Amino acid sequence: MEPDNLVLQPRDVHFDWAELPMHWVPEEPVTTHVMNVLHLLLPAGERWFVRTFQQAVPLITDDDLREDVLGFIGQEAMHAEAHSEVLDHLLAKGLDPRPFTNRVEWVFDRILGDRPNLTAHRQREQLIERIAIVAAVEHFTAYLGDWMLNATALDRAGIDPTMLDLLRWHAAEEVEHRSVAFDLMRHLDRRYARRARAMLLSAPPLLWLWIHGARFLMAGDRTAGRLTLRDFRRAGRRGLLPTGHDLFRAFLRYFHRGYHPKQEGSTSQAVAYLATSPAARDAH
Ligand SMILES: [Fe+2]
Ligand SMILES: [Fe+2]
Repeated sequence: MEPDNLVLQPRDVHFDWAELPMHWVPEEPVTTHVMNVLHLLLPAGERWFVRTFQQAVPLITDDDLREDVLGFIGQEAMHAEAHSEVLDHLLAKGLDPRPFTNRVEWVFDRILGDRPNLTAHRQREQLIERIAIVAAVEHFTAYLGDWMLNATALDRAGIDPTMLDLLRWHAAEEVEHRSVAFDLMRHLDRRYARRARAMLLSAPPLLWLWIHGARFLMAGDRTAGRLTLRDFRRAGRRGLLPTGHDLFRAFLRYFHRGYHPKQEGSTSQAVAYLATSPAARDAH
């Protein structure tokens, strides 16, 4: 049974990275760095989610949705913090992420940022478009969150337990709040075209950023070699990464007329993980 009146709460988690090895999936530089891209993209991306949603709060006329949006904001702000601490660790290990993260911040601030010079009507339109982009990205975070909670191959590969907890804590909260951005978008604009366009606009740059992020990290890690499609496929076959095929199918699901994020993942599984997660249990 799925809980239906979950209150979204941010958890003030802390992780200690002092002992984290460079390849935290042992002998798997490709898997490690493809997943490390999360740390490159999420701090800037989730802070942008937070800014966007804070601007949307005054437009919400439904009390339950407003409460969910505030819970979403609290959770995403915490995610951004947790991932940026991993970036500090990479820097301390000699892998400077800033040439890449500065570019990511530029994308979110300049291309997707506020446009105070627009008319009030155009500003509202641009805000709803940004919310639709968040909803499209949240489809992938829900898919990836569900994948991460079920990726038993990572446990078998001996992944660093602290990193696994960070990834699964985040995954579980993504599954918990997976409907919020979609419901907010539909509260402000129910048109199918809005949803479809936002996904078409979001997926290609996201893929591009991911490939370049993984290449960037592997180039900065002298022990890692080069990123090849073959290695990515191999990791997918072994269950260490989602496969390209599954990602593409997830992308297509967003275009079904009857799509709703509730169809991805399981809230009970997410809540069950959060009840046992070492970081979530220690959170204040
Ligand atoms: Fe998040
Ligand atoms: Fe999220």
